[in-house]
Amino acid sequence: MKRKNIAAANWKMNTTVQEGVALMNELCAQDLDKGAQVVVCAPATHLYALSQLSTPEHVAIGGQNIYTKDSGAFTGEISCPMLKSTGATYAVVGHSERRAYFAETDEFLGEKAKAALSHGLTPIFCCGEGLDIRKAGNHVEHVMAQLKASFALLTAEEVAQLVIAYEPIWAIGTGETASPEQAQEMHAAIRNYLKDAYGADTADSISILYGGSVKPANAKEIFGQPDVDGGLVGGASLKADSFSAIVNSF
Ligand code: PGA
Repeated sequence: MKRKNIAAANWKMNTTVQEGVALMNELCAQDLDKGAQVVVCAPATHLYALSQLSTPEHVAIGGQNIYTKDSGAFTGEISCPMLKSTGATYAVVGHSERRAYFAETDEFLGEKAKAALSHGLTPIFCCGEGLDIRKAGNHVEHVMAQLKASFALLTAEEVAQLVIAYEPIWAIGTGETASPEQAQEMHAAIRNYLKDAYGADTADSISILYGGSVKPANAKEIFGQPDVDGGLVGGASLKADSFSAIVNSF
């Protein structure tokens, strides 16, 4: 199975519903490469409104987080059935900001990915190392350990349905981007791990996105690496013209 090219926007905690609707309309008015799967991961408050807009078929919406339980006394949390009912089809799982500020562990993130899949949501499963780990040269080992700990909870069939996003923490929102070679090194390592653990067909079919200061100026070169299948884009996704330029960089 040929893997998809995916340009995913991560709006994080930005925009009001009205601003988000305007941004989505502006984005969809651009000439977007139909060969790319576009995913707009917006705040949960916005998703239903976004799903009611008339958008091209290759533009999907996603949440930025989900909880593992389907319902119950978990004040403030959003379940997978709730997210699904907005029209969202993707969910970011394990973003480094969730790991750092909300103490989400590898094991818990494995549970979240499993919950998402059981409700037909595609997880965009994030991994990545901090600057200290990169400087010590332990980045590949670190990311492999993150993935192994989370994926231990998943069946091979579940792993095959994931999208993975490699996001070096030192490159997120800093303006500093991993070089295309640094991105390729990690993406190839992830793909090799998937091949060893789940077989070549699964490894070849999973889209692995790069995230961390992707911009129109660097997207083409990064997306051009053999194991990079797209990007998870924060800051540059908040402007329709810069995100559409990134979508059109494959
Ligand atoms: P950035 O964020 O593009 O602003 O670096 C990426 C992300 O955190 O997903």
